[in-house]
Amino acid sequence: GDFDLVVRGGTLASAAEVFEADIGIKDGVIAALGRNLSRGAEEVSAKGLIVTPGGLDSHCHIEEIGQDGTVQEESFSSGSAAALAGGTTSFICFLPQWKGYSLADSAPGYEEQAKRSRADYSFHQIITDPTAEVMEKEVPALVQRGIRSLKVFLTYDPLRLTDGEFLRVLATARRLGAFVTVHCENFDAIGWRIEALLKAGLTDPLQHAWSRPPVVEREATHRAIALAELVDQPIQVFHVSCEDAAAEIAAARARGVKVWGETCPQYFTLSHDDLQGADFTGAKAVCSPALRERSEHARIWRRIQDGTLDVVTSDHCGFSFATAKKAAGSSAYGTGAAAQRPDGMPAFNAIPNGVPGIETRLPVLFSEGVSKGRIDLPTFVKLSSANAAKLFGLAGRKGTLAPGGDADLVLWDPDRETTIAQERLHHAIDYTPWEGLPVKGWPSITIRRGEIAVQEGEVLAAPGSGRFLSRGPYALARGSGRVPDGFDAAAL
Ligand code: URP
Ligand code: ZN
Ligand code: ZN
Ligand code: ZN
Repeated sequence: GDFDLVVRGGTLASAAEVFEADIGIKDGVIAALGRNLSRGAEEVSAKGLIVTPGGLDSHCHIEEIGQDGTVQEESFSSGSAAALAGGTTSFICFLPQWKGYSLADSAPGYEEQAKRSRADYSFHQIITDPTAEVMEKEVPALVQRGIRSLKVFLTYDPLRLTDGEFLRVLATARRLGAFVTVHCENFDAIGWRIEALLKAGLTDPLQHAWSRPPVVEREATHRAIALAELVDQPIQVFHVSCEDAAAEIAAARARGVKVWGETCPQYFTLSHDDLQGADFTGAKAVCSPALRERSEHARIWRRIQDGTLDVVTSDHCGFSFATAKKAAGSSAYGTGAAAQRPDGMPAFNAIPNGVPGIETRLPVLFSEGVSKGRIDLPTFVKLSSANAAKLFGLAGRKGTLAPGGDADLVLWDPDRETTIAQERLHHAIDYTPWEGLPVKGWPSITIRRGEIAVQEGEVLAAPGSGRFLSRGPYALARGSGRVPDGFDAAAL
């Protein structure tokens, strides 16, 4: 036949529409869509199933090595198995830069490790030390190699940048046509709150949230957008947790600023309640920005619905609960030195930040979004893959069902009801913060570049079968051409 594989009889959902069609796949690429396509060498029935593009998780931390030696406990092999099992066929993780080091000398061997991935992958380059050498030589070389996005932190020691350093990164990105993503929280405000909380003897996991309330995120989001506007550099604000920050993004977008907002399932499903579990289990829900009050969820959904938050990622972090309980000092994403508590558990500020969610991201979004009627299927596709593909230079290849695109597909059983359970997940972490959450809708089959990668929970894709996604120039990463007074400082 004409096709290596035909996915037959499914209800297809793209970012634009929902329609019935067969999908003909040849050489890992979608070759044809239509009714009654000719037989393929292999056939998969999608009767009664919904077929979406494979997920693109544009923010996850896999096997990342911190400057102090902390290693995220998720390997490329386990993390990508979990990704595929949850319907994510490609992801973008992070190349670290250690402060005081060149890019080349930071986390040596990391790109080699990534070759063990079963899913397709790319990198954002973290910039913690934008020296002239790094920005004028190493970053241009990186962009040449197809690594076309930078990530900066406005908080965390030793990752954070000053405003001056951030401006330098923005200006370099602008010249190179690279995209910039930003972690927005005010470092000094958090430090001041932590000091006061510890002094008051308030050390529980819940106090992690008290150390960084919404105003801390709102201020940094406002500042990041203002500086990006000054340089005319497109940015995405990472992991927006609250309306305060989302409103800053919406206001800037209304002015025509090229700023986008990302959120994560934890910010519309988890809350302060999860930080208050017995036996220190609140530590399982420590992430930054922090979880908010339950009442915040409806406001996040409204910002998803109005398009302000148009990408949902996992921000997957590989820290087990067992590790969190032993946390004794600063960690890759911890904040400051640890005060030990009488019960031997670490104070909130020593708990490693971040939750594991690479496998549950899409089932939770499908269930809470599509099954509960908050979003339609095309919106689900935009949030889970299509918008990230546009933002990060993968449009046409990922997040699409159009002929010519990679044949990355998820066959969803929209009626399957289950509860999320650690024992059925494929990640290397010892818990999920969504334990026991009832979900409706689950991936039956995940296809990555025309190969069946997961079937009914069994991962068939081998380590090393994922490919590095090199990204070329694209319009969305370029400035709008509008700078204050017409003086383009970044062009010099
Ligand atoms: O708590 C989080 N999100 N930790 C991971 C690092 C980051 O800030 O994205
Ligand atoms: Zn972050
Ligand atoms: Zn509360
Ligand atoms: Zn992150």
